[in-house]
Amino acid sequence: MNDSAAGVSHSRIAALRTETEALYLGMRPRTRAAAGAAAHLFEGVPMHWMVDWSTPVPLVVAQATGARLTDIDGHGYDDFCLGDTASLFGHGPAPVAQALMRQASQGLATMLPSPDAGVVGDLLAQRFGLARWQVATTATDANRFALRAARAVTGRPRILVFDGAYHGAVDETFVEITGNGHVANRPGLIGEPRDLSVLTRVVPFNDLDALEAALADETVACVITEPAMTNCAMVLPAPGFHAGLREITRRHGTLLLIDETHTLSSGPGGYTRLHGLRPDLFVVGKAIAGGIPASVWGMSEEVAARFQRVLADKPDGHSGMGTTLSGSPLQLAALRATLEHVATDDAYAHMNRLADRLEAGLAQVIAQARLPWHVARCGARVEVVRTPEPVRDGRAAKAAHHPALEAVVHLALLVRGVLISPFHDMMLASPATSDEQVETLIGATAEVVARLAD
Ligand SMILES: Cc1ncc(COP(=O)(O)O)c(C=O)c1O
Repeated sequence: MNDSAAGVSHSRIAALRTETEALYLGMRPRTRAAAGAAAHLFEGVPMHWMVDWSTPVPLVVAQATGARLTDIDGHGYDDFCLGDTASLFGHGPAPVAQALMRQASQGLATMLPSPDAGVVGDLLAQRFGLARWQVATTATDANRFALRAARAVTGRPRILVFDGAYHGAVDETFVEITGNGHVANRPGLIGEPRDLSVLTRVVPFNDLDALEAALADETVACVITEPAMTNCAMVLPAPGFHAGLREITRRHGTLLLIDETHTLSSGPGGYTRLHGLRPDLFVVGKAIAGGIPASVWGMSEEVAARFQRVLADKPDGHSGMGTTLSGSPLQLAALRATLEHVATDDAYAHMNRLADRLEAGLAQVIAQARLPWHVARCGARVEVVRTPEPVRDGRAAKAAHHPALEAVVHLALLVRGVLISPFHDMMLASPATSDEQVETLIGATAEVVARLAD
């Protein structure tokens, strides 16, 4: 058996794990007690995957403000995880908090538009370039609705996803290319009796020949993709990939759905605006309302006109789209505040400046330790990937994943007062993040790496 993971020996990983676990538990009596006290929550947490973090028992957060967290034992953390992007703009940005306070006295959920509605539509169109918008509550839902619209307007049954992608809990995207080259449901998916490969095609990211072949029979309604894959290890598009993707989808009458939920880190208009992409459908969730559950999906003028005809012609009854709390005055107030006052050009300038420093600092730590890792970057999103060179597709990204090593790095950083994302080594610079916090993260990483490298 290989006695190392990405250049780090298993014995070093195990030794650091034992030490940091003892430190974590020893200094957090209230956290330990809270884990035992939540008996009526399934698995002791409000959402089951909160137990999947590297911590032996979940960290319980007493307060989150700006880019700082405090746990119930009084320990403070510099937060670079930021709710896995939901708080990309910091915890509780003041304009959002004020808008929510105002809206609370004017109605939270009416199932009718508030005066903010039209303003939010205009702001979205200006920012992202698509003509027509709808509001949903999660990025998962926005993707589901956009895919349904794509099938409705094209009359085609299939969708296509890239291997290794994640677009939320959208059932039909949980497919992968298996070791023998077939497409099958992902092994981790539970409660799914259907063979999802019947209606979902999967090809490797950055592989335009495979894409061409998969779209050739013109049964695919829509390609759904992040502009850069962020949910395995970060996989950036190869030069020419987006131009090819657009040309091939257009030629085959397949719609292109860009999911910017994570790559909103790229700039005020996401990766799409920064790189002049021209999707037919567009989704962004998580941070778009400053941490309030809201997402938006946009359509080009052409898709909107086709979709309008579908709605006009359809028989009465439920369309399968929409949820009661979507488009609520609460969401609209938070969306408007975020778009007008939080996700500004100035905010992104600050985020990018800090991410420049973080990228350079982490690259230097890795180089000095002679580890076969590199740093990948998408605007304010910085990630350590455990390969010497950038990865090109989901399979390579999967091979770069070393769970025990990742977990010990997270936990060792956490006991040093720094929080990074739990599932791979992703870090976000927010408008509230300071230069000092970035230096603390680089310094803490250097300490942890020194304990791991030979
Ligand atoms: C690219 C992308 N799309 C959609 C989602 C789903 O977001 P949510 O869990 O808020 O529905 C995620 C979640 O990580 C994501 O990374």
